Amino acid sequence: MTEKREQWGSSLGFILAAAGGAIGLGNIWKFPYVAGQNGGAAFIIIYLIAVMVIGFPVLIAEILVGRYGQLNPVGSYRMISRGSKFWVLFGYLGILTGFIILSYYNVVAGWSLGYVFEAMRNVFSQFTNPSIAANHYEKLVNHPVWIIGFQFLLSLITVLVVYLGVQRGIEKYSKILMPLFFFILLLLVIWGLILDKERASLIFLFKPDWSVVTPRTVLDALGQAFFSLSLGMGAMLTYGSYLHHNDNILKGSFFIALLDTLIAILAGIAIFAGVFAMGLSPEGGPGLVFKVLPAVFAKMPGGYFFGILFFVLLTIAAVTSAISLLEVIASYFVDEKKLPRHIVVLSAGIFTFLLGIPSALSFGIWSDKTLFGLNFFGILDFLSANVMLPIGGLAIALLIGWNFGKEEALAELSKGAGNWVSARISSLFSLSHQAGSKLTIGTFWFYLIKYLAPVIILLVFLNSLGLI
Ligand code: PHE
Repeated sequence: MTEKREQWGSSLGFILAAAGGAIGLGNIWKFPYVAGQNGGAAFIIIYLIAVMVIGFPVLIAEILVGRYGQLNPVGSYRMISRGSKFWVLFGYLGILTGFIILSYYNVVAGWSLGYVFEAMRNVFSQFTNPSIAANHYEKLVNHPVWIIGFQFLLSLITVLVVYLGVQRGIEKYSKILMPLFFFILLLLVIWGLILDKERASLIFLFKPDWSVVTPRTVLDALGQAFFSLSLGMGAMLTYGSYLHHNDNILKGSFFIALLDTLIAILAGIAIFAGVFAMGLSPEGGPGLVFKVLPAVFAKMPGGYFFGILFFVLLTIAAVTSAISLLEVIASYFVDEKKLPRHIVVLSAGIFTFLLGIPSALSFGIWSDKTLFGLNFFGILDFLSANVMLPIGGLAIALLIGWNFGKEEALAELSKGAGNWVSARISSLFSLSHQAGSKLTIGTFWFYLIKYLAPVIILLVFLNSLGLI
């Protein structure tokens, strides 16, 4: 006898868990430096449009497939495509992507945890100039024991939470960690803005510089929206599979997308406010968080305290995302192979930890082992984020738009959504009904999924392969 499949205890629990999955290194480590390099506000405006037009609709589609199937990605793809052998392949692709992303994600997540300890040991106070901070970073990531040790600790925390189950593990800890996360971020933003008297960070982030925007920027923004919302590998699908049929998917997706976007922007403000207030350069690139920020904390009043808080923030963001990745894998083996959850979680945890070791070492002793100029970490990151996620996203849009079909999709979306789905778009903006638009929210979403999303995702994909 297999146990009854779990469900979320409340829709708030679902939203916090899913937002926790979405909000991760992508928001705090990547978004600020990518926005910084791409014209600040200009990038943010394009990013917002990308989230609204592609990210949000695809997020709805993923959660819908999960709630419909009440199963892991493989099982849900099978259900929604009525047993198609072809579509199920994309479910398997999602599980594989989960393994890969989790393996290297835990490495960087481990650094965040490691940096909490560096901050507590007051190491940052010696970084009187940014190059000392950068040297220290190089020293740490070159140290196999440090890097694998923290990768292991992080994997262990992830395994423990997922081991406890959907309600007693993921939901419970999301309800504790996410409010703490919002609170810390708010403190950092407020302190940053108090110090940044000239408001240089706000000018940098909100005054658009369109001169640096190219078609490529647009596609990069879309790719970032996709990664940040955890789309294309079944993470949101899996969390959606623990929803009741009377939960409102539109509402849930709206809050998840809103929180994810808001947090990315707030993280940008907090980071750049600190950087500018301390007179450092925002040209951090990928090293912004680990190489530049510790030097910011060295100079900042209260830097000891805020340094610890910042890396706790980053660690929470990373852990809750790692949890969502491990849950995808766990749900597959539990649903499809009928294996006991704790055995699956332990074995998947050990396996991804081992798979992550080459990634961990590729910053140090294996940094010379490269293929096409990328080290092991770089290869996995490129393959998963730039190839596998777009393919997965394309598949879900095509599946809903062209296989499942409009009537079925809108009927499923309407469940638990009151009259949101049949509400007219014009009524949202309180335009007069004579304006002639009979387009409903549901139909509008469906057309975005059927026509616009596949074309745009394909363009993003070709862009990330460097083909256009
Ligand atoms: N969205 C996460 C982040 O922003 C990354 C992630 C991608 C997590 C895909 C799960 C699945 O860091």
